[in-house]
Amino acid sequence: MGPAERAAWLRAEIERHNRLYYVLDQPEISDSSWDALFRELVELEAAHPDLRSPDSPTARVGAPPREGFPSHRHLAPMLSLDNAFGEAELRAFDERIVRGLGRGGPIAYYAELKFDGLSISLTYEDGILVRATTRGDGETGEVVTENARTVRDIPLKLLEPLPGTVEVRGEILLFKSVFEALNAERTARGEQVFANPRNASAGAMRQLDSRITASRRLNFCAYGLGAGPRLAETQGETMKALARLGFAIRSEGQVLDGGDALVAWAEKIERRRAELPFGIDGIVFKVDRFEDQDQLGSTARGPRWAIAYKFPAEQAFTRLLHISTHVGRTGVVTPVAELEPVFVGGVTVSRATLHNYEDLRRKDVREGDIVVVQRAGDVIPEVIGPVLEKREGSLMPPVEPTVCPECGTPLQRQEGMVALKCPNRACPAQVSAKLIHFASRSAMDIEGLGEKQIVRLLELGYLTDLPSIYRLRARREDLVQLDRMGEQSVENLLAAIEVSKSRPLNRLLFGLGIRFVGDRTAGDLAREFRTLEGFRRAHYDALLAVPDIGPRTASEIESWLEDEENQSLIDQLLDAGVAPVEAEAPSGDLFAGKTIVFTGKLEHITREGAEAMVIKWGGKAAGSVSKATSLVVAGPGAGSKLAKAESLGIEVIDEATFLAMLPDGEAESLR
Ligand code: IVH
Repeated sequence: MGPAERAAWLRAEIERHNRLYYVLDQPEISDSSWDALFRELVELEAAHPDLRSPDSPTARVGAPPREGFPSHRHLAPMLSLDNAFGEAELRAFDERIVRGLGRGGPIAYYAELKFDGLSISLTYEDGILVRATTRGDGETGEVVTENARTVRDIPLKLLEPLPGTVEVRGEILLFKSVFEALNAERTARGEQVFANPRNASAGAMRQLDSRITASRRLNFCAYGLGAGPRLAETQGETMKALARLGFAIRSEGQVLDGGDALVAWAEKIERRRAELPFGIDGIVFKVDRFEDQDQLGSTARGPRWAIAYKFPAEQAFTRLLHISTHVGRTGVVTPVAELEPVFVGGVTVSRATLHNYEDLRRKDVREGDIVVVQRAGDVIPEVIGPVLEKREGSLMPPVEPTVCPECGTPLQRQEGMVALKCPNRACPAQVSAKLIHFASRSAMDIEGLGEKQIVRLLELGYLTDLPSIYRLRARREDLVQLDRMGEQSVENLLAAIEVSKSRPLNRLLFGLGIRFVGDRTAGDLAREFRTLEGFRRAHYDALLAVPDIGPRTASEIESWLEDEENQSLIDQLLDAGVAPVEAEAPSGDLFAGKTIVFTGKLEHITREGAEAMVIKWGGKAAGSVSKATSLVVAGPGAGSKLAKAESLGIEVIDEATFLAMLPDGEAESLR
């Protein structure tokens, strides 16, 4: 094989693997084998410059900076879309279409995700990518071809022959996981973080140095065609044609009939929004048949045949009134933003986390600033950063507290940790948070001992620490005298406390509130050590040997156990009669030896319920996919975990199949 043939073979092979990896999520070779192929091609092209070509995968690594971007007139304009907010406006759109077509309903629509990124137009000539253009003003955009070539799922060459010129339209976006990784890298380098994936992807596409674009690991989602031949009669079929040409189609595309179906679909996608691996800001509904689209036509603004149904924004601006200090269960002190109330992510938010003081300093957030607040899905609201252009006058940088706001004890910072801690275990804020956690539903589950009751009993001095819960019985007469208590509720409370003494070990370990020990880790510990006696003597190596426990958690648990006060706490609990039953014993061995991971949205059951069921029947529930995973239960919106399972060849089933595996009656108990 001569160099020209070898180069052609390498190009085809590398692009085939790129497609398997980036478009289909089904890699066939290891990263290092891919690297070897790539290196060979780079060397071959260096030795034979005449072999270079614009569709070579070597173009994907980027090229040195250029002067600026030339502009280019789109062959067909890139229109915008009208928006609809809420059900009524969506139904009004459907009614307009039915009237416009004048043949009665229902009309077939094609529903797509509205990707939240940067729109671009890709021009292919005889199947080769020759130009990529940003939307610009819709008529003329900037030519960003070199940057587009670095986007791994943009085909440099179409998979099927397509003579002439076509424009493929779509959105450049950054997956949430990539966004988080990029921000973590930026944080480590002390650089300003990106506010959201959209800004990061738009910024990346406008880099004059395409090597920077390459480092941002962007993706492309196609949603239609501009100028050129139509590839099909309908939007739905066009998307299939685009997939055959090599484009990643990430829309949960669906043909829907009539207004009711549009409303139901919008609700369904909105519920799943947080679980998608990338950001969307709504749904685009398009009249499916091109013949119908042509009949409806366009206005200057946008087509009459499509509508963008918009979701509530996940980010908003508001004023930061005050930074307060919160002391948590483990004594960790965090800054909390008190905000001018703002509607974001569908609710009104007036407090948001600021994570830690180092983060606060790095982001340069100050009281009085206008800040970006984010609330995505069920994640607690957070302040992303200040809008520096809106800062007025001289605002003072916040001062990090040196003493605990609750008890006045000087705060400490552990070596190498960002967290600031109040070392006083008797700190009222810590004590109440510990008690609330211990008694909570997922820990010792003491009914009648909720937050309000705990605060009241603390004020009265009836509760002082965890073991004091088990001394409340001696206070029976005092308790009966309390407002809104009475004989019966005191009896119920004391009975609930009694029952809690024999909760399974995993719940007690979770309830102790050891840093980094969530309910899943508590389950892992209970299974490994079986008894409280076994656990309390565990050392670092034994802890690290527990599957799923890493060095950070192992060392945190070890130092907790080395602390005499904690050992004394365990003694006091045992003395009070707390006798955890060994880790929840399995009811059967259906899942014995199996590690199961749930990912994506579960429709009829909760994730906690499903995981408890796996444990109940002898298995293990894990949070991440690895070679040790036996089975993955994937629901809609599953992303990277599903891809990983597939690449490792791990069996993947859906929720219904999982439910069908369960013994009689168990599936029903979960619904
Ligand atoms: S179709 C003539 N489909 O939303 C129709 N647009 O507000 C043009 N967008 O500039 C657009 N996802 O960048 C269409 N599935 C999708 C989309 C989508 C995101 C963007 C697009 C456009 C903007 C319109």
